[in-house]
Amino acid sequence: MTIKPITIAIDGPSGSGKSSVSKEVARRLELGYLDTGAMYRAATWWCLREGVELTDADSVTAVVDTMPLSMSTNPDDQTIRLDDVNITEIIRETNISSKVSAVATNLEVRDILRRMQRARIEAERTGGFSRGNGIVAEGRDITTVVAPDADVRILLVASEEARLARRAKDVHGVADAQAVEATKDEVLRRDADDSTVSSFQVAADGVVTIDSSDLDFEQTVAAVLQVVENVTGN
Ligand code: DC
Repeated sequence: MTIKPITIAIDGPSGSGKSSVSKEVARRLELGYLDTGAMYRAATWWCLREGVELTDADSVTAVVDTMPLSMSTNPDDQTIRLDDVNITEIIRETNISSKVSAVATNLEVRDILRRMQRARIEAERTGGFSRGNGIVAEGRDITTVVAPDADVRILLVASEEARLARRAKDVHGVADAQAVEATKDEVLRRDADDSTVSSFQVAADGVVTIDSSDLDFEQTVAAVLQVVENVTGN
């Protein structure tokens, strides 16, 4: 029997849990996983390494267009390399987090990465890591721009308080007042900047919203799997 490949698109703001939840859903359903935010982070690292001013939009576009990115769609091996440098960890550091919006708000860069993302999604539906089962793709504009025709489209939201606490715990290991304060720029300012080019706070038509404010990780994964089941009957 041939199984029809599935594309699951998950959007949401910083700290909504979309990366960890998407990755786990991919594991459970034996699908590929595409972290599009990591591509914007990689592009930012590459511009810095090439010595390009992030405010110089044309130069940023030119170097991103030719960046030698290597990235797996295996949810258990998210190693990312650029020019043979393993940048998996370094792109999560504050230096990149605080600068990535400058690259992610460049509309020509978005065009380039959107094309790469669509190619990855298509490749995963015909072969790739999941041998054609399909993919979970997540990021700020996946349900609306990159994959508006995905089989399942979900907007994962959470209250500002829950998002700040989660990101503080991820980055600082605790969610006390000081850690939450230190996380505000990364979560709130970045979302405000990113909102200027993609709409990820309100669900578009046909997109199912899941509010994870009062759900733990396992409950959020279960809620996503339930939506997939409702939509696909799998
Ligand atoms: O999800 P993240 O924090 O790793 O995303 C990194 C940055 O990339 C963030 O500033 C938003 C941006 N981004 C985007 O504009 N579009 C996407 N599809 C994914 C991420």
